[in-house]
Amino acid sequence: MAIRGGAATGGPTHLAMIMDGNGRWATRRGLERVEGHSAGEAAILAAVDAALSSQVPWLTLFAFSTENWNRPAAEVAFLMDFNRRVIDEHGGSFHSRGVRVRYMGRPERRIPQVLREAMHDIEELTRENDAMTLTLAFNYGGRDEIREAVRRILDAGLSSSEITESTIAQHMQYPDMPDIDMLVRTAGEHRLSNFALWRLAYAEMVFLPTLWPDVTESTVHEAISEYRRRDRRFGSIA
Ligand code: IPE
Ligand code: IPE
Ligand code: MG
Repeated sequence: MAIRGGAATGGPTHLAMIMDGNGRWATRRGLERVEGHSAGEAAILAAVDAALSSQVPWLTLFAFSTENWNRPAAEVAFLMDFNRRVIDEHGGSFHSRGVRVRYMGRPERRIPQVLREAMHDIEELTRENDAMTLTLAFNYGGRDEIREAVRRILDAGLSSSEITESTIAQHMQYPDMPDIDMLVRTAGEHRLSNFALWRLAYAEMVFLPTLWPDVTESTVHEAISEYRRRDRRFGSIA
């Protein structure tokens, strides 16, 4: 995939977003929590549009965590169906705009067959696209990703002296995925919630009070402007 936009324009090469606040958005309106998830659909599309127009080559959205199974069964079932519908309804538009869609996490564990098939189909359809990679972290946990990499390393028979940081990165689910440059979390929470622990090592953090369903394209553009103002030193003093 060509490196363009992102870093070349001073913006992030890899933008990740923890989409939070759907439940609060709904309860503040006297609605069921799941109405908040539905209302978040437009924000997902806005994030994709903003990333494309800002030439961000990698956009990763945290959609369902390994801990979200602890929610009431009806909400979990809604989220499974909602995520299938988003892909069914918008996958074609993503494809026509050159977006490669990928899922990060554990599709084989507990995900309903119908959603697994939709995930697989959109990945296959968009495999060759190169305008942007949209990664949906679904049934994803940051520690789980690292645990999986360690297992692959042991299965490959590598010895301890061969283990570098790059060996670990190369044994993750997507070795081609770069480190995250900027993490945006909405809804006023200042925590990672087990998201992308490895790739967030030097990410710039942007925490917004905005609830996810209220996110628009301009919210994302403003966050990218904030990123451009940051001074990333990586431990140096320059
Ligand atoms: C984010 O919104 C969506 C998921 C985690 C799936 P929440 O559902 O966490 O909304 P709040 O945090 O309860 O408001
Ligand atoms: C993180 O949000 C997970 C996703 C956005 C998918 P949560 O709402 O589940 O996180 P906590 O419970 O506030 O830490
Ligand atoms: Mg939340």
